[in-house]
Amino acid sequence: MSDKIHFVTVGSQKGDENRVHIFVNGKILDSESPVIKVFDRGMVFGDGLYDVIKFQDGNFIFLDDHIERMKKSANFFGIKFPYNLEKIFEIGLELATMNGLKEGELYLQLTRGVDVIRDHIFDDDYEPTFVEIVQPVRKMNPEIWQVGAKVLLHPDLRHQFCEHKTTDLLPNILAKKYARSKGAYEALMFREDERGKYVTEGASSSYIFFDGKKIIAPKIENILPGITRIKVLGLAKEMGIEVEERRVYLDELLKMKEIILLSTLSRVLPIVEVENFKFKKGEIASKLGIAFKDLLSSHLEVK
Ligand code: PDD
Repeated sequence: MSDKIHFVTVGSQKGDENRVHIFVNGKILDSESPVIKVFDRGMVFGDGLYDVIKFQDGNFIFLDDHIERMKKSANFFGIKFPYNLEKIFEIGLELATMNGLKEGELYLQLTRGVDVIRDHIFDDDYEPTFVEIVQPVRKMNPEIWQVGAKVLLHPDLRHQFCEHKTTDLLPNILAKKYARSKGAYEALMFREDERGKYVTEGASSSYIFFDGKKIIAPKIENILPGITRIKVLGLAKEMGIEVEERRVYLDELLKMKEIILLSTLSRVLPIVEVENFKFKKGEIASKLGIAFKDLLSSHLEVK
């Protein structure tokens, strides 16, 4: 591997389609350059946080909400947060321009910096590692929003820090890989209490349910407070739809009229199959999908 920094525009050379400019601790570099040190605590311990933000027409959608969430988590774990919203926006825009992207996903990663040797105990005097990447949006068949998606049940095998976007995603990636290997779009993860098994979230998404009268959203108890979830529940309330936040048990799923998956990249996605049980793509998913699209457009206008 050459260590010479070689700038390219996305897709300008054969085999370079996925190569982008990235930002690491104050420098703009080629994504292929070896910039992360082997003793970076993100690398050896998963001691870090991340977030994913949609980039569209010169704007990073709900960037303020995403940064607010990330800052809260950094504070919770005692990780220094080195940049403010304006700086992150500015860097993101520069990367998008350099990478020739009008649409993309912004990936932010913050770790507790680099150790001299691998050691669980961290020094309080450290410089965090902050990475910003704007890459093309991962491809999704646009038909999926029309026809709906299938999901598969999977136990939620994660830790107690799921209200934060930590980089240690091993259980998430295994759950998602399991779903994809069986032809489904996403996993629908569950935990168990004395009443039975209840839904938590997807490997990288939130779920909400419509029982025919109201929307029921799994309570935020060791699951991520998804930005899309917050926005969509707000829209539902504005439309006069009652919203209840509580545990949703697997034995209630068959009574649900609609199941909807939410995330920054999947937006408002109707679920039409859980295991082999079929659900309708209903009116609520359509209405919320349209309202969310309108909210995104208005967000773009007021940038
Ligand atoms: N994932 N739950 C989990 C576990 C997630 O990883 C995500 C997002 C969500 C939805 O959150 P939001 O609406 O803020 O995107 C819920 C991102 C997209 C990812 O990991 O790529």
